[in-house]
Amino acid sequence: MKHTATLPVPDPIAQQHSAQLLQLIYQTIEDRNGWLSFAEFMQLALYQTGLGYYSNGLSKIGKAGDFITAPEITPLFSKALGNHIADVLKQIPEADCLEFGAGSGQMAVDLLLYLAEIDCLPKQYYIIEASAYLREIQRHKLKEQSGDISSLVIWLDQLPVEFNGVIIANEVCDAMPVHRVQFENEQLLEVGVSVHNGELAWQTQPITNPELKARCEEIQPQLELFPYQTEIALQSPAWLSTIANLLNQGAIYLIDYGYEAKDYFHPLRHQGMLRCHYRHQAHDDPLVLVGLQDITAHVDFTALAETALTEGLQVEGYQRQSDFLLAGEILNLSQDNANQAFQQMQQSAALKRLLFPEQMGELFKVLSLSKKVEMPRSKSADLRYRL
Ligand SMILES: C[S@@+](CC[C@H](N)C(=O)[O-])C[C@H]1O[C@@H](n2cnc3c(N)ncnc32)[C@H](O)[C@@H]1O
Repeated sequence: MKHTATLPVPDPIAQQHSAQLLQLIYQTIEDRNGWLSFAEFMQLALYQTGLGYYSNGLSKIGKAGDFITAPEITPLFSKALGNHIADVLKQIPEADCLEFGAGSGQMAVDLLLYLAEIDCLPKQYYIIEASAYLREIQRHKLKEQSGDISSLVIWLDQLPVEFNGVIIANEVCDAMPVHRVQFENEQLLEVGVSVHNGELAWQTQPITNPELKARCEEIQPQLELFPYQTEIALQSPAWLSTIANLLNQGAIYLIDYGYEAKDYFHPLRHQGMLRCHYRHQAHDDPLVLVGLQDITAHVDFTALAETALTEGLQVEGYQRQSDFLLAGEILNLSQDNANQAFQQMQQSAALKRLLFPEQMGELFKVLSLSKKVEMPRSKSADLRYRL
């Protein structure tokens, strides 16, 4: 197994997992005549049953894992989100919540406890989780930490036929597989994965996927620099289109890191923005530590907003995470919370991490979408003009 010099060396059990997954990937590449699209590689590396990063039983989220998400930093994140959600739940009789990709289950725990406290619980709290392993972690955490309220939680294996209420996805779109492409002056190439000297290697070929080709042709006129390499997400807009169609009345909150098209396809980002996380170190090589590291792509929020409009949703707001949380009254919530000096110190460190522009405050954005509801808090410091 290869790994870059500065990354920690995985333990023997982890190495064994990775070797098994690599074997399967080599076989798949051979079956596909020596080339796999990056989207297919990312799907296998993250979600292959029992072996992919999110499907194997190794630690991922939190201090002992590879990365920390906002709900893991402090419950104030989920409480401030809870204030946004409560505004919407109050407008819909018998409203439910649906969370995609609930990770460790921490956000579900803190949201439900807070919604109970302000007397605004949904009828049910549904979770759709791609990883069977994480589903079990969530079940355990909800039972341990939210007591009777956990009986509101139902895990779904497939999407409901229709839905009224609030749909939430925190750092889920960035974990959906993306294609990798290269724009040359004269041609469009897809960057895929092959095997060279017994190791995974990048290899380009002309784009044959018609949907990907059409999307690249839309993007090409915006580019100022060639050759230009970037990621193209086909899965997340398709997913949004499906959930928009099942929503009768309600709101969708997409929270993630990313940019609007003008910044996403900026010359500065001519090598793309794939990020991998292993033991709290970030780097840009998804072909190492296969199945042991997270692989993520920044989100193109313009593409998601355009999909939303096409599917009949209103784009209610596009905010920096910091402005979204301030509109959810995170500062008032923090005053209610911390009594002791030590707690106050911990809390201000957490708030800095969530709100400061050089930390998560600016790179993370929230796209707020609606059907037949008002979302007043999504209007403050609104950046829709940039989409
Ligand atoms: C980066 S983690 C974020 C976890 C959690 N939302 C948080 O903020 O801590 C990505 C999560 O999305 C899940 N996931 C990815 N694609 C999904 C999909 N299409 N449907 C449901 N869950 C998905 C992963 O299994 C994982 O739980």
